[in-house]
Amino acid sequence: MASRAQIQTVKADFLDPSLYDDPGFSGLPRLSRGTVLAALSRAFDLAEGRRPGHAQRVAYVGVFLASELGLEPQRIEEVFFGCLLHDAGMAAAATVPRLDANRGGKMIAGGARVTDMLDQVPSGAWNEVVEAIARHCDEGSRIVRKMGFGEAVVNAVAGHHDCWDGSGSPKAQPGERAPLISRIVSIADRVESLIDAESSPLVIRRRGPALVREMAGHEIDPELAEKMADIAGRDEFWLGLYDNDLASALMSLNYGGIMAREELFDFIAVLSDVVDVRNGREYGRGRRVAELARRVALACDMTERRADLVKVAALLQDIGTLGVPVHYLSKPDILSVDEMSTVQMHPVYARDILSEIPGLGATAWWVGCHHERIDGKGYPGMLEGAEVPAEAQVIGMCEAFDALTSDRPYRRAMTHSDAIEVMRGLAGTRFDPYLFTRFEDIVSPTEA
Ligand SMILES: [Fe+2]
Ligand SMILES: [Fe+2]
Ligand SMILES: [Fe+2]
Repeated sequence: MASRAQIQTVKADFLDPSLYDDPGFSGLPRLSRGTVLAALSRAFDLAEGRRPGHAQRVAYVGVFLASELGLEPQRIEEVFFGCLLHDAGMAAAATVPRLDANRGGKMIAGGARVTDMLDQVPSGAWNEVVEAIARHCDEGSRIVRKMGFGEAVVNAVAGHHDCWDGSGSPKAQPGERAPLISRIVSIADRVESLIDAESSPLVIRRRGPALVREMAGHEIDPELAEKMADIAGRDEFWLGLYDNDLASALMSLNYGGIMAREELFDFIAVLSDVVDVRNGREYGRGRRVAELARRVALACDMTERRADLVKVAALLQDIGTLGVPVHYLSKPDILSVDEMSTVQMHPVYARDILSEIPGLGATAWWVGCHHERIDGKGYPGMLEGAEVPAEAQVIGMCEAFDALTSDRPYRRAMTHSDAIEVMRGLAGTRFDPYLFTRFEDIVSPTEA
């Protein structure tokens, strides 16, 4: 049975202890909304099946254009968030078709060209595609509103597939009746999709301005298109776009203001809700698991500061499932080997996404280990014993307990005592027995 001293050793073995044991460590990093979203936008790319960094590159294009237009700082921030979040609805709309943008044809949407869509969609299913596009725009605007963004960002997300000529969606407004911020986000998404569709940077550098002008007047605002074409003729634009440090550069803008502790929890909890609903889980499940994980972390002798990080990890533990088709997650049958290996990638996706956020390196590692077991039969790393971070085990225990005590389509919720009994059988194989006793203290029926 692990003791408190052993648990202290566990984290020192696998992470730089200064991450959270240094006396100067202050727990939750001070993060802006822009920093958090620049990283988490990669989850939307996953959901859409896009090359990683699509939303980040759209934000770069949008901010570049907005700055060239001389917009006020507040308007530039709105463009930034509209761009990063334009496809947030893909995370909620589990059935939106994934479309390949890498072929020619008229562009009507970020990454989706009419001809490609028609090629891929069986005849008669066109309405479904149009509906799916409208749905992710609506879902996205709802998510953005819940995150506390104002109408300019909400409208930009809602209208990012709309065209200058009033086509693109039933709600599309022609010409300047569409807000300027929305028109900029819409251009940025289309421009990035053009760039993404061309594998050679040299070719797109040469053809970029002409391709932008081709969309002017029907798909995009002609004046903005001219400005964008001009920008696309400059090396500084391309050097910034292809810079390996693009993500860090976007994060360092610190748009949206630094969040206080509770604000940070609330902000990422919105994403936890999105993931729960998308995966067919009960709304608010992630928030409940995260709160329990924080209490259990404290009971496992972790400091308040570490417990806060455990809560963040618990809230974002399944963000990587956005890269897994939802029907794999809800399949009542046994998964095939391929399906299983895709599902087992979700902690890896989440770890990679979170590790981009400054100060959340440890959290990223715990999230990456939340399906590991101390008997070495977990995934993705088949870590053993003390290799599995205590924080990851706390999250795993809380998640398992919540699952057992919630109704499922195929079984009723267990009572707390029955769930604890089931989990007791996993102490020593899945979970460390010492950690389990501390967990039990917290969830025992007298307290529950
Ligand atoms: Fe979209
Ligand atoms: Fe897009
Ligand atoms: Fe998971």
